[in-house]
Amino acid sequence: MVSPADVKALQRATWAAGHWDAVAELVLEVGAVIVERTGVGSGMDVLDVGTGSGNAAIPAARAGARVTGSDLTPELFGDARARAATAGVEVEWVEADAEDLPFADGSFDRVLSTFGHMFAPRHAVAGAEMVRVCRPGGAIGTCTWTPEGFVGGMFKIMGSFLPPPPDFAQPPILWGTEDHVRECFAGLDCEFERRTVRWTFASPEEMADFYEANFGPTVMAKALLEPQGRWGELRERFLEHVREASAEQGRAVIDGEYLVTVARKPG
Ligand SMILES: C[S@@+](CC[C@H](N)C(=O)[O-])C[C@H]1O[C@@H](n2cnc3c(N)ncnc32)[C@H](O)[C@@H]1O
Repeated sequence: MVSPADVKALQRATWAAGHWDAVAELVLEVGAVIVERTGVGSGMDVLDVGTGSGNAAIPAARAGARVTGSDLTPELFGDARARAATAGVEVEWVEADAEDLPFADGSFDRVLSTFGHMFAPRHAVAGAEMVRVCRPGGAIGTCTWTPEGFVGGMFKIMGSFLPPPPDFAQPPILWGTEDHVRECFAGLDCEFERRTVRWTFASPEEMADFYEANFGPTVMAKALLEPQGRWGELRERFLEHVREASAEQGRAVIDGEYLVTVARKPG
């Protein structure tokens, strides 16, 4: 029987594999978007859940907030610390599971997550934890890939090659649909916006190589599928997906769609 702890151990190994900090460069602008949309300001207490190398935490600290960056994968904090030092800001880095946040009720004015909390297996549990640690009158701000977007398609392709997850583990991409977010942040008033972030690579092959070297889930999938002789097929499906989605023939010019949620907690 696979337990939630087993799923999280695999998640931690997955995000520690590859080089998240290199991939984070592709989504850096999103951290600034959620900080701006949630009105993070001077003197606020802010939590970034699944912070990675500090994508939302660092712009929040730059806006003058007291910031905690939490993540299941403390292996990423070395890069997070280096980025914070370069930005000239202080952030407290705390190892924490989104499903069991080690903070008192109502500790934060803003609870943020860019593509982090969506990987916790039990969405209602993670959502309830984020609501719990948010102060009455505060807000939760999240950015999550949509099922219709490029990353939604990529997860679908990868999932079709991998063993099915246990029943309790919900697909991360569900967080990209408005109704699901409303259910997980029950009792909060949610506003939504769909945005895109653009990635440009010289060719689809260069993009595939970048993912194979740096993106933890791809690194792990390759390690599993290559010995079974199935990696080449997955890479080919990925290349087709990139060619179909690219805004330019020849190069890979991809607009990744994500859902921005601002959920306000009643005062
Ligand atoms: C796609 S990365 C996003 C990192 C960062 N927020 C960013 O935008 O660059 C996903 C992050 O979620 C973290 N994560 C996965 N499952 C988690 C969980 N149950 N609790 C907290 N963090 C988790 C991973 O360790 C990883 O840092």
